[in-house]
Amino acid sequence: MDKLKIAIQKKGRLSEHSLQMLEECGIKFSNGTGKLKNESKNFPLEVLFLRDDDIPYYVERKVADIGIVGENVVLEHNREITILEQLGFGGCRLSLAIPREEKYNNLNWFSGKRIATSYPNILNDFFKKNGINADIEVISGSVEIAPGIGLADGICDIVSTGSTLLSNGLHEVETVIKSQAVLVSSKELSDDKRQILDRLLFRISSTKNAAENKYILLNAPEDAVEEICNILPGMKSPTILPLAIKGWCSLHSVIREDDFWNVISRLKKAGAEGILVIPIEKMIL
Ligand code: PRP
Ligand code: ZN
Repeated sequence: MDKLKIAIQKKGRLSEHSLQMLEECGIKFSNGTGKLKNESKNFPLEVLFLRDDDIPYYVERKVADIGIVGENVVLEHNREITILEQLGFGGCRLSLAIPREEKYNNLNWFSGKRIATSYPNILNDFFKKNGINADIEVISGSVEIAPGIGLADGICDIVSTGSTLLSNGLHEVETVIKSQAVLVSSKELSDDKRQILDRLLFRISSTKNAAENKYILLNAPEDAVEEICNILPGMKSPTILPLAIKGWCSLHSVIREDDFWNVISRLKKAGAEGILVIPIEKMIL
């Protein structure tokens, strides 16, 4: 049977997390750094390590069947590929930034200025939509040094933690688009490959659901159970087990991590004790 080929970023913001996501899906690889390809030992998947900017093209050309890449790159390159889903990691924004000492009021600052970027298409659209006439200077890397060496007045680049901007004396003034890692696929896949992809998608959604949810256990007096059940926005109804101490029981449920922080004080007020919140490894809905 054919293997499914997935392209991921060789080196950069998404590389480590892309491999980690595959590993969380139970897909194991033999060690070996610096390789261009790696085959899984226990799943019909072959990984190609490529420059992220090339991934949309390689998927369009079917060199790779699927790929993990930032939405920013997909949007910039506008290839004939399908976005299958957002992966929930690699969050960042494509932003305009200018030297720290420059005063900034609004987008008009950019009129007549030279802006360096590796995202000319997205930036061009953005300026057009906002009626700004600026010169776009296309460079393929190290965009953040352009103002410092006199190549441009400002830049448009990916910001994640913001440390690259900070260390280059720049400050972010406008967000052009928000982005995160997405799974993309070629427009046509053989039936065999489609089947492997469906298995992979199933695993991805199970790990994604698990990451967003926690298993919660708590003890409570029997007469508080009803109120606690109302507070817990659980999967279905929580499991309730009697405790050895008379009049007490243990409640088990699944809760979204965000919800947990919102309800914790109400749970305690209602009489919940010994609250445990445990990570979930896989969650199949
Ligand atoms: C971007 C950008 C900066 C860095 C910003 O590169 O070009 O170098 O991330 O991150 P920070 O705000 O956390 O410092 P990216 O990994 O998107 O890809 P590239 O190297 O292919 O340009
Ligand atoms: Zn890149």
